[in-house]
Amino acid sequence: MRAFERSLIVVAAAAVIAVGAGSAVWAQGGEWKAPADAKATKNPRAAQKTDKQALANAKKNIDTNCQSCHGSGKGDGPAAAALPPPKPADWTSAKVASETDGELFWKISNGRGAMPPWKHLPENDRWDIINYIRTLQKK
Ligand code: HEC
Repeated sequence: MRAFERSLIVVAAAAVIAVGAGSAVWAQGGEWKAPADAKATKNPRAAQKTDKQALANAKKNIDTNCQSCHGSGKGDGPAAAALPPPKPADWTSAKVASETDGELFWKISNGRGAMPPWKHLPENDRWDIINYIRTLQKK
């Protein structure tokens, strides 16, 4: 076998392994837990929790990046119906309300399954999004 053919087989095998690992994560519909250290991380934007400008910026970010799935915050976005379970989370649910800011930050940053990772958004923007999510829960 020529080296070129051999390298093709290696690439194909790697692709099979990658897809396999991806679907294992996808199929993991059980409880989604953040690591303990992430859970304990304090919100560095806690002082901005009621900052109107920061919250307005977060709302804009959400309209652009999250609304298609999370809709009004209740997981009722236009793309939600087409997604297989687990469905986009209801941010106003008791479950999300019971999670720490650090836990939500870790989940938003890393994603799972259909929930994309948002590591590319500036950290402050991610924390401000969490501050905004908290305003939906106080009802
Ligand atoms: C393409 C659809 C989609 C988009 C866009 C999306 N999400 Fe999600 N989100 C999901 C799904 C699906 C889940 C449930 C994932 C699971 O439980 O495995 C989820 C779960 C969550 C959770 C709950 C985690 C938990 O279990 O407590 C939070 C918080 C969240 N998303 C925030 C966001 C934020 C913030 C954005 C925008 C920056 C966003 N999502 C954009 C699909 C999406």
